[in-house]
Amino acid sequence: MARLQNYFTSAKGNSAPQSQSITTEQPASEQTPRVRHLAIIMDGNGRWATRRHLPRLAGHKAGVNALRRVLECAIDESIEMLSVYAFSTENWGRPHTEVDGLMRLFWETIRSDIEKLHREGVRLRHLGRLKDLSPDIQKAVQDSVDLTQNNTRIGLNVCFNYGGRAELVDAVRQIIADGRNPETIDEDMISSYLYTRDLPDPDMVIRTAGEMRVSNFLLWQSAYSEYYATPTLWPDFGKEDLCAALDSFHRRQRRFGRLG
Ligand code: FPP
Repeated sequence: MARLQNYFTSAKGNSAPQSQSITTEQPASEQTPRVRHLAIIMDGNGRWATRRHLPRLAGHKAGVNALRRVLECAIDESIEMLSVYAFSTENWGRPHTEVDGLMRLFWETIRSDIEKLHREGVRLRHLGRLKDLSPDIQKAVQDSVDLTQNNTRIGLNVCFNYGGRAELVDAVRQIIADGRNPETIDEDMISSYLYTRDLPDPDMVIRTAGEMRVSNFLLWQSAYSEYYATPTLWPDFGKEDLCAALDSFHRRQRRFGRLG
């Protein structure tokens, strides 16, 4: 819990008072249900393109525009962290042209947007297996992460070559490599070995395009996240959709497995 509170009180100058933090230590009635960390499975780019008789990559490009739009809305809504699923470890199984197109789009988007993101106070992080990506992408990501590391307005975590199971495999490998005593392994230790170490768990996970699957996204971290599914295809997702999701969250009571 200290990990979560430290994040909200130290990483953000304009964060809410600590008494408003969503913690498991407060009775449910005293919780202020506010989305601080929002995670999104951006689904439906291909269908959006197909409906317009466009190549799938046009859908992914429209998806980047949607992401730019939603990031602005998230800042307006005082969301402190946004995690987006941009390329999964399973997406390598798509046709080469689509995989190459997504790689290029990711690289181009970082290169074209990073100065603006930096000016706007966005802290970029990458979640996933960076070393399996091309040297160009690795460098663009690392440069961007370094450039924005002191920004505090909003955190943007791009999950690219990310898989929840791969993340757990990487964690277990490192725990063993570090020679950790099995008796000392607990949930906090495992969390500290994940790509998301030091980050709060997502309060809400949105999935667009009407699918009802987790798809290997933030498996450990979303144990108690509120899920929200919308039929809106990702390239069409905008402020109204985001506000509808946030409204839904505000009406929920988070119980974290306890009685309400
Ligand atoms: C799922 O839609 C979407 C993806 C696999 C890629 C998402 C990527 C972006 C939004 C752009 C790249 C991101 C960055 C950060 C530059 P789908 O293709 O599975 O859609 P479908 O289910 O309709 O076929």
